[in-house]
Order: sequence, then structure tokens, then C-alpha cells
Amino acid sequence: MLEKDIQEILFTEEQLKKRVEELARQIENDYAEKEVMFIGILRGSFVFLADLCRAVDLPCTLDFMSVSSYGTGTTSSGQIQIIKDLSEDITGRHVIVVEDILDSGNTLHYLLNILEHRHPASVRLCALLDKPERRVKPVELHYCGFSIPDAFVVGYGLDYAERYRSLPYVGILKPEVYGG
Ligand code: IMP
Ligand code: MG
Repeated sequence: MLEKDIQEILFTEEQLKKRVEELARQIENDYAEKEVMFIGILRGSFVFLADLCRAVDLPCTLDFMSVSSYGTGTTSSGQIQIIKDLSEDITGRHVIVVEDILDSGNTLHYLLNILEHRHPASVRLCALLDKPERRVKPVELHYCGFSIPDAFVVGYGLDYAERYRSLPYVGILKPEVYGG
């Protein structure tokens, strides 16, 4: 039913699962003997984070943050507001921020800066997808699932107008759906 709005599947369930496992091995190697605190950025990261945290064989805790970037349609702006802050203190913790997609970098540039000021032991970023062509603000991405071209994608947590998050794959949305 949702499929009719998808132009092309970029990553199937199997490809996503395999890549999540690879990222998990990388994280396990980098954080051996440490406890990780995953911070999921709501809402887009919820599916990716659920799979990632179950694949990582390390002690970990989870927390969530929600931010809005006053964007219109399919782009974000530089103006960011925290809608829901963390419930936990991150001082001295090894934080991995988990995001669905790194696009302009506006959201994460701002967010990572706020987190750094709270004195964690370390902060790294893990994003399922990266659109490097669209970067406006510099952001260091330590763990990247896939780099993709400049197209609007949905599924596996990613939405357009809150829809399509439940698709098990990542696909390019037909431009006519968002009037592109
Ligand atoms: P940025 O601030 O431009 O990096 O935007 C990051 C946020 O924009 C992501 O967390 C997504 O919520 C949203 N976003 C950017 N590109 C896409 C896309 O192709 N599909 C769905 N959401 C996107
Ligand atoms: Mg998002």
C-alpha cells in the first residue's frame, strides 16, 4: 500500500541488517571494556537504534532527545529547538549519538555542540545514512551506514510528513508525493 509512493528501493531489509551488524562489530572493537550510552534522536532513529543496540555486544544504556529544525517540506533550517532533552546526565559517559540521516548537518552540528558542553568522556556520531553533497555545516561522522546521493528517502524510521517510517527498507520517495 505504501509501496506505490516509492520510486526505487535503495537498501533492502537484508542489506540493512548486514550493515547494522558491520557497524556493531566496529563499535564493539572501538569500545571494548567500556559502557556505551546510545542517544537516539527522535523520531527517525528509532528503528535503526533498536536494531543497532541489539547487535552490539557491550554493556549499554539508552536515552533519547528530540529536536525540531524549523524546516519546510524536505529541508531543515539552521534554527534548532530542543523539544525533549535527555533524562540522564552524560558527564563522564561514552556517548554515541544515533541519527537516521546526516543531511545539511544543521541539526547535528548544533546538537553535538550542546552535548560536548556537558562533559561526556567522549561523543561520537553514528548515522544510518549520509548525504555528503548537501552538507552546509561541518559534522564528523564516525559510523556511517551508507552514503547516498541527494534524493529524499523514507523507510526504516525515516519519514515524510510522519509517514513511511514503518517500511522495512529504505527507498526513494516519488517526487510527486512531496510536490518536488
Ligand atoms: P539536517 O539538519 O539537514 O542534517 O537534517 C537532518 C534531519 O532531516 C534528519 O534527522 C531527518 O529527520 C531529516 N531528513 C533529511 N534528509 C531526509 C530524507 O531524505 N528523508 C527523511 N528525512 C530526512
Ligand atoms: Mg530526524
